[in-house]
Amino acid sequence: MKVDTNIRSRTRSDELFDHAQKYLIEGVNSPSRGRTVFEPGPIFIERGEGCRIWDADGNEYIDFMMSFGALIHGHAHPAIVSAVSQAIAGGSHFASATSAEVDVAERFCRMVPSAEAIRFTNSGTEATMLALRLARAATGHTKFVKFEGHYHGWYDPYLLNAHAHPPRKLGAPENPARIPDSAGVPPATFNDVVLAPWNDAARLEAILQKHAHELAAIITEPIMANMGCIPPRDGYLAQLRELATKYGVLLIFDEVVTGFRYAPGGCQEFYGVRPDLSTFGKALGAGFPIGAIAGPRSILNRMKWGEDMVLHYGTFNGHRLTMKVVTTSLDLLMAENKAAYRKLHHLGDQAIAGLRSIFERRKIGAVVQGFGPMFQIYFTDRTAIHDYRDYCSFVDTRCYSRFIYALHKQKIYMTPSNGLHWIITTAHGESDIDGLLAAADQACAEIS
Ligand SMILES: Cc1ncc(COP(=O)(O)O)c(C=O)c1O
Repeated sequence: MKVDTNIRSRTRSDELFDHAQKYLIEGVNSPSRGRTVFEPGPIFIERGEGCRIWDADGNEYIDFMMSFGALIHGHAHPAIVSAVSQAIAGGSHFASATSAEVDVAERFCRMVPSAEAIRFTNSGTEATMLALRLARAATGHTKFVKFEGHYHGWYDPYLLNAHAHPPRKLGAPENPARIPDSAGVPPATFNDVVLAPWNDAARLEAILQKHAHELAAIITEPIMANMGCIPPRDGYLAQLRELATKYGVLLIFDEVVTGFRYAPGGCQEFYGVRPDLSTFGKALGAGFPIGAIAGPRSILNRMKWGEDMVLHYGTFNGHRLTMKVVTTSLDLLMAENKAAYRKLHHLGDQAIAGLRSIFERRKIGAVVQGFGPMFQIYFTDRTAIHDYRDYCSFVDTRCYSRFIYALHKQKIYMTPSNGLHWIITTAHGESDIDGLLAAADQACAEIS
């Protein structure tokens, strides 16, 4: 079926895309921004303010993609603009010790339950790289459990079964097909990866019985956020904690998406489960590039200089401008007894309830999963999507793309990729949720 992707006007976006392809591979800097996802090409965004963005043709949208969740306070929040403007006048970065990084580290350790100490990186990928290196050094083992469909950045060993594939390619759940996500990774790298299905404690225990003696860690997204939004089954994260402890394996929560979003202390606070190590990024930076690893001193001290240290360098670690932004952002999140979190949950739940009732009224087979600040819509005849295999087998991702193109015409911006998720920020308000719901109703009329 031909997809109608006409927004009000896209002449300038198309011109820019043609030009971009002369210099940039596929005209973009990440496949998730280009034609792999957007048909007939990306919408070029020129400006943002609050929860609104404007594209190169002057079309205005309410943004619910929010830089893949990096913008917890929306675009150009005045306090953040002021923090950056003041800070840059005093020099952008020194690659030396600064009070700015101590200000953030202190706040971070106060907010995140498992953070006795932290180390900053420049992206979520760098943080998950470091987490695995630390876990391996701490345990002396190299293998680790990775769950099917979880994405932990683009570091070699994580690039197994992170993309969706047709169900016939997946193999049996007890013996999953091992599908690399990238060329150029030495096949031997994947010998260290023990693949497991997520949201299934019994299967994981069977795997641990066999492999625990050679495992450094189990790494998990606490809410699966790269196949849309798949929350853990009741008690599943606590079961993961118990199993990791019982079998002597470190538990890593990859909170790059969930950190600072669901609660000041991320999912570990929200669900009351304490991982050994956790990684952060996205919302922590409020739009600036950052990553971080947190954990107990007993593990993070392995980075202290010495003969068997874990090496971690980085010119831009603890970048001064970013640190100034993060201090401002964290203070905004914690102000008025954490009012920001009440707002994120309230608005998100309102959007979710509204969308559910639209799909029900219009008799469209769709589920809306997630809660509060993050959710995703699946066009499916199922009542819920519990894991990677459900996502690959039962979700009509093309229908979702058509729905999103219809929303673009209704001034709502979101990626057409079903693998991502809707983001609520402190910049959204009730009227923006009303705007979304009115647009979604129209979009449903268009796709049904
Ligand atoms: C759960 C998770 N971990 C790690 C990463 C990598 O973060 P970054 O894109 O900042 O390298 C991502 C990015 O989407 C992610 O979703």
